[in-house]
Amino acid sequence: MALDLAGAESKRLRERALSVIPGAVNSNIRLSAPPVFFGRASGATLWDVDGRDYIDYVLGQGPHFLGHACERVNAAVAEACAQGMLFGASQALEVEAAELVLQALGWAERLRLGLTGTECVQAALRLSRAVTGRRKFVRFDGHYHGWLDNVLISPDERARQASDGQVGEYLNDSFILDWNDADALAELLREHGDSICAVIMEPVMVNTGGIEPRPGYLRRVRELCDQYGVVLIFDEVITGFRVARGGAVERYGVVPDLAIYGKAIGGGWPVAAVAGRADLMDEFGSGRVNHSGTFNGSVMAAAAVVATQRLLAENSPYDRVADYGNALMKGLAAVAADHGVALNVHGLPAAFHVSLGPQMPVPDLRTLNELDLAGYAALTDRFVAQGLWVMRRGIWFVSAAHGDAELDRTLDRFGAALGGASS
Ligand SMILES: Cc1ncc(COP(=O)(O)O)c(C=O)c1O
Repeated sequence: MALDLAGAESKRLRERALSVIPGAVNSNIRLSAPPVFFGRASGATLWDVDGRDYIDYVLGQGPHFLGHACERVNAAVAEACAQGMLFGASQALEVEAAELVLQALGWAERLRLGLTGTECVQAALRLSRAVTGRRKFVRFDGHYHGWLDNVLISPDERARQASDGQVGEYLNDSFILDWNDADALAELLREHGDSICAVIMEPVMVNTGGIEPRPGYLRRVRELCDQYGVVLIFDEVITGFRVARGGAVERYGVVPDLAIYGKAIGGGWPVAAVAGRADLMDEFGSGRVNHSGTFNGSVMAAAAVVATQRLLAENSPYDRVADYGNALMKGLAAVAADHGVALNVHGLPAAFHVSLGPQMPVPDLRTLNELDLAGYAALTDRFVAQGLWVMRRGIWFVSAAHGDAELDRTLDRFGAALGGASS
């Protein structure tokens, strides 16, 4: 029998929401989330409107790397906004935000702020088309680059449009390959290199399975892009400021031409960015390539980025987050083993993947699909019922606000959920 996860107040709100908000959610990603309404969040904890608490491993789908309601970031945003929020012209904090992010990244020379990862992906693709004079791009099965027509593909069937109303023809602008297979990319570029403007990828495939690049893969992709004059775009919307301060570029030492950042860049505030080589990015500045947005570089967004970047620079949380994530990954597997449940836990400590199945390396989608992903998804309601807010698709995000107390409570709750599952 399905678990009833919503308390009385959540149910009341959902009833009201259903008559004014389609599906009671403002993003289709949330259609599959349990019908719980939240009232408050702090650090690593969420409280629903019925007063139940949850240890949060969704973190707003990733942005809350510093934990919820980070006081220092929120105070900086409030203070800055008291002086005005949007001028329809330039303001000082935009400059500081760009300087601090570029310093943190180390490789990129220019940065444009936007609001969402989705639109910054489109800016990077348009720029790639403009500078190469080519139209097609290469992307990979299982990677998510936003919800617009030219990038949204069905998770179940490669290259298939994922929404009614989507202009399916726009998907013809891309070749879709298996990721982590450099030979497949080499072959495609040999045949179609002169029509391809860009290769875009999540440098760690977090959206489907938390899969790391094979040793040498990113370097080979870099070489192939250089060989064929193709722009290499890393979509670091999840990995940026999460897997390391400088994202996947810092972790794996391979430098793209352009990269997209979002989520953790601004301590949970709505802000994203596209960054990269000056000779490419300056085409936005010349006016030849249009990148626009009423809210781009608002005081709110820029102040959030500045405060977040200062905080990350002054008190680096990355070792702590890695320690926590590693302990949690080990702990979940051990608790599962105690309950006779085979649990596969793999990935990076700041963003890992959990599913039912034997512990084994997961280098690609084919191996991932051998695991019992549906079985795990079916169990997640039990985790939620015990006070663990987790995603059905198995990704767990860790924040700088998770500590020893959260670790102990998480493992207790996880055990209680599995105990309930086997009884
Ligand atoms: C890798 C990646 N790229 C792009 C996006 C789209 O970002 P947004 O939801 O801010 O539009 C996401 C969102 O989850 C993402 O994970």
